[in-house]
Amino acid sequence: MRVGVPKEIKIHEYRVGLTPGTVREYAAAGHSVVVETNAGAGIGATDEDYRKAGAVIADTATEIFAAADMIVKVKEPQAREWSQLREGQIIFTYLHLAPDPEQAKGLMASGCTAIAYETVTDAKGGLPLLAPMSEVAGRLSIEAAGSALKRSAGGRGILLGGVPGVVPARVVVIGGGVVGTHAARMAVGLGAEVTILDRSIPRLRELDELFTGRVRTRFPTTEAIEQEVFAADVVIGAVLVPGASAPKLVTREMLKSMRRGSVVVDVAIDQGGCFETSRPTTHADPTYEVDGIIHYCVANMPGAVPLTSSQALNNATLPFGLAIASQGFAAVTQDPHLRAGLNVHRGRITNKAVAESLGLSCPPDAIAA
Ligand SMILES: NC(=O)c1ccc[n+]([C@@H]2O[C@H](COP(=O)([O-])OP(=O)(O)OC[C@H]3O[C@@H](n4cnc5c(N)ncnc54)[C@H](O)[C@@H]3O)[C@@H](O)[C@H]2O)c1
Repeated sequence: MRVGVPKEIKIHEYRVGLTPGTVREYAAAGHSVVVETNAGAGIGATDEDYRKAGAVIADTATEIFAAADMIVKVKEPQAREWSQLREGQIIFTYLHLAPDPEQAKGLMASGCTAIAYETVTDAKGGLPLLAPMSEVAGRLSIEAAGSALKRSAGGRGILLGGVPGVVPARVVVIGGGVVGTHAARMAVGLGAEVTILDRSIPRLRELDELFTGRVRTRFPTTEAIEQEVFAADVVIGAVLVPGASAPKLVTREMLKSMRRGSVVVDVAIDQGGCFETSRPTTHADPTYEVDGIIHYCVANMPGAVPLTSSQALNNATLPFGLAIASQGFAAVTQDPHLRAGLNVHRGRITNKAVAESLGLSCPPDAIAA
């Protein structure tokens, strides 16, 4: 199959659909890969690196869209990308179609087959192509908190791990899934005192075993959240209710009880956030203050570390991408996990939840159509 990798054009997006290392795997499997010039600039990969890995370099995205049987990207296609897609062409990328009817219309009109990273599943019911970005965001959240706690950044002026003779910071993580676990791992590693709240008791049991007593776990009643937030130097918001907006678990009243210069990092901001006072911020201006509490609410945290993020994403997408490149659309019909990723095919929405969010129908025969 001819696989095409255009340069990402969404603002401040520095990741790339295929790294040179991944291109090598596609080439070794007998596929040809065309990469747009400078597509890897954001991760420090040159055109020469791609050539060495077996790719051909194209001067423009137009050439890529014209030549490729499958386009591999990171972010959802922008209008000038979806208008170049054609019938039968496969696009494999994050789509996030539910809140984006314009893009959905564009993809349907093109007749392309669009497979969304975020709805591909695994045998455990997880979302394997979303998890790597949650791992990155979880780990980054503690770095962000540590920076914001510095006095020069308006924080309380404390070190997460303390030093001998001085107590460490108290970090409270609400939501003990992928983001929460990775945040806790970093915070524990730095020597902070960590509490994780999660409404799933089986999950609290797993966390208790995983951290072998190095974290406290707690069920998140309102009283428990109030007490933990009151005593915290850092609160990480990491809850997810799949398909729904994040519940507002920390009210402004609770926030007021915190010491001035404490920090909240709302990783769940991409689902609306779990603090009443959260609003999305960007890497260019990541923090703001409410009632003396520093808020960090960047909606695309992995974008800060595009090299790590691209590699983590490529590791996860590679087996699925290779299956599609080798078998074409049959890979989707044969693998229920890739089938779950199929969002658009021949002018129809093929994912029930996405169709419902868009107020469209999802006919059971959409794949055969
Ligand atoms: N800002 C970013 O750049 C960025 C990057 C990656 C992920 N995220 C977001 O981070 C959030 C968490 O993602 P994840 O991959 O860790 O999800 P996950 O499904 O692995 O974990 C979510 C956890 O929240 C728990 N939970 C749900 N409701 C709760 C409640 N009321 N109280 C306490 N716990 C509750 C669940 O039991 C689960 O363990 C999502 O909104 C995700 O989109 C943001």
